[in-house]
Amino acid sequence: MKKLIGLDIGSYSVKAVDIKVSSKDIEVKNFGYDLLSRESIVEGEIMDTNLVEEVIRTVFTNRKIKNKNLSISISGRNLILKAVTIDAVGEEKVRNTLEYEFPNHIPYEREDIFYDFSIVSEEGGRSDVLIAAAKKEVVNSRVNLLKSLGLVPLAVDTAAMAIQNAYQAIHGPLSGTVFIADIGAEKTSFSIVVNGVPKFVREIPVGGNHYTDVIAKELGVNYEVAERIKLGEEKSASDLEELFDATNQNLSNQMKRSLEYIKGTAPLMINKGILTGGGSLTPGLMDFLKNEMDASDIEVFNPVEFVKAPAELLPQLQKVGPALSVCIGLAMRKVR
Ligand SMILES: Nc1ncnc2c1ncn2[C@@H]1O[C@H](COP(=O)(O)OP(=O)(O)OP(=O)(O)O)[C@@H](O)[C@H]1O
Ligand SMILES: [Mg+2]
Repeated sequence: MKKLIGLDIGSYSVKAVDIKVSSKDIEVKNFGYDLLSRESIVEGEIMDTNLVEEVIRTVFTNRKIKNKNLSISISGRNLILKAVTIDAVGEEKVRNTLEYEFPNHIPYEREDIFYDFSIVSEEGGRSDVLIAAAKKEVVNSRVNLLKSLGLVPLAVDTAAMAIQNAYQAIHGPLSGTVFIADIGAEKTSFSIVVNGVPKFVREIPVGGNHYTDVIAKELGVNYEVAERIKLGEEKSASDLEELFDATNQNLSNQMKRSLEYIKGTAPLMINKGILTGGGSLTPGLMDFLKNEMDASDIEVFNPVEFVKAPAELLPQLQKVGPALSVCIGLAMRKVR
C-alpha cells in the first residue's frame, strides 16, 4: 500500500499533512500550512492559478514534504450530490443499473462525469443510493495543476467523507443520526450521516469570511484588521458575540432547513451534531447552535487534540485545529 499526503486546498488556506496511523495512535509526521489571499479561490474556483501554485509549492518545500503522492478532495459547488432510488440491490447490480439510467439522474453527459455512489438502504428489491459526481473537466484541471508542480494525486474523496473518516478513526463508528457542519471560510458544508452512511450533503453559503465582514462593516475597519480582531490578535472594545448574532441566526436557520428537508428519509431525532472547520472556532457560535438546534449533543471536532506530533509542529497544529479535519481524513487514505 502507498502512503499518501492529505492535501486540502481551501479558500482560506492550503493544508498538507503526512500521518502515520497505528493501532495505538495517530501520529502527524509532517504538516505544511499557508494562507491564500481572499481573491485566489472564489466559490470553489481557482481565480489566481499562479498564486495558488506558489502557495502549494511553499507548503511542500517549507516543511520539506518528500512524498509527492496525494489524496485530495472535492467539495462545494464542484460536487454534484444526488439521492436516487434504483430498482436493483447489491453493489454490482446497482452500478450496472446506474450506468444504464445515468441520463435520468445526472444532468450531464456520462462521458463528462466521474462518479461514485454509496448504498444508503435496500428494501423490496430497490436501493436508495447517494451519488457523488464531479465534472471530469473540474477534477482534471485540479489534477493537472498538481501534476505541473510535480505532485501525483492518486485518490479523490469528498470532503465530507474525509471528515467522517477522521472522526471515526478517532472516536469509533458513528451511530444514530448525526449532522456534520464543516464551517470553512466561504461556506459551510452540511451533511447528515445515519448509522455511518452519508445521507445528505448541502452547501450553505455562510462561513468565517461572513463573520469577518460583519466586523469590518460594523467597526469600519479593513478586512485584514477585522480578521485579526476576530482571531483575538487585535483588541476591540466591541462585543463580538453580539455583532455575530444575525450571521449565527442565518447559519442556524439554514442548517435547520436542511434537517427539515431530510425528515421523512431519516429518523427524526438528531443524536449528535459535529462542528468542524476553522469557522467552528467563531466566538459564541457553538453555544448559539446548542440553543437553536434540536440535538442533544453538539461538539467541536478538533482532530489535533487526538494526535501525536513532534514538538516543533505542535503550536501551528494547535492554532489551525479543527480546520484540519478534512486534511487529516484525506491523509488516512492509502492506495495500492
Ligand atoms: N480561532 C479562530 N476563531 C474564529 N475563526 C477562526 C479561527 N481560526 C480560523 N478561523 C476562521 O476559519 C476560516 C477558515 O477555516 P478553514 O481553514 O476550515 O477554511 P477553508 O477550508 O480554507 O475554506 P473553505 O472550506 O470555505 O474553502 C476563516 O474564516 C478563519 O477566519
Ligand atoms: Mg474547507
